[in-house]
Amino acid sequence: MRKVGEIVVLREIVRSWHGSGGSVALVPTMGNLHDGHLSLVNRAKALASRVVVSVFVNPIQFDRQDDLAAYPRTLDHDACLLRELGVDLLFAPTESEIYPSGTNEVAFVEVPSLSGILCGADRPGHFRGVTTVVSKLFNMVQPDLAVFGEKDYQQLAIIRRLVRELDFPIRIIGVPTSREEDGLAMSSRNGYLTAEERGRAPGLYRMLRRVSDALGSGARDLEDLERSGRDELRESGFDPDYVSIRRQDDLGPPSPGDTRLVVLAAARLGAARLIDNLIVGVERPPPL
Ligand code: PAF
Repeated sequence: MRKVGEIVVLREIVRSWHGSGGSVALVPTMGNLHDGHLSLVNRAKALASRVVVSVFVNPIQFDRQDDLAAYPRTLDHDACLLRELGVDLLFAPTESEIYPSGTNEVAFVEVPSLSGILCGADRPGHFRGVTTVVSKLFNMVQPDLAVFGEKDYQQLAIIRRLVRELDFPIRIIGVPTSREEDGLAMSSRNGYLTAEERGRAPGLYRMLRRVSDALGSGARDLEDLERSGRDELRESGFDPDYVSIRRQDDLGPPSPGDTRLVVLAAARLGAARLIDNLIVGVERPPPL
């Protein structure tokens, strides 16, 4: 595996791969890799002849300085994992490589229609930071396809819209959420949980299962289901930001008769803000 920090070197390598007829997949990450990331890499390996993984803690998608400062940085360990998986290239640029004029002089890329709702309402500027860095990475790597986790459902929807609106010739692949045995979605932020909070954390998944199962069985009072979801989270010790039932394709509020639904939630538990979602009607493991 090559480890590269400079855009010119990255471009030269990817150009030579494309020149010899290979396809290239990009897996963008902020590092601190866990099994969820590794499943993205495995998907990328199955779909393309070369795999690039980027590790970059993107400062402009953090709405709080303390959150950015505390974000775990484990590049050496990440590099070992990626090497073992057979990744071709690790792109780990510095901040000044990505933002040469500083982070106050950025030309932003934004998908306004989807960026101000749900997580965007609680984290102003977050998705603008994501779409900006993802657009830059797309331009730097010029992959044939890029792989993202469905755990960040809103992020994935925004990136699909971004690619469509800006005509990036890149296939976007979504990979189902990897979960711990008790249902908790894998996330770098789970490391912020104390042992006691970790015991309670699967309550988020349990609530999503209950709401999603109710929808699957025909319940249609969405406001009541959302309210009961928030109550259930509070009873399990969470401080919910939202529980929301939306259309899968555009995250709009469902109209009567819409059947392609997703239940999304974000909630704070101690120092961690956890997010998760369930697509209604998709086959899942048996109840816990
Ligand atoms: O999902 C993430 O880890 C980040 O938002 C991403 C897509 C790598 C952009 O910084």
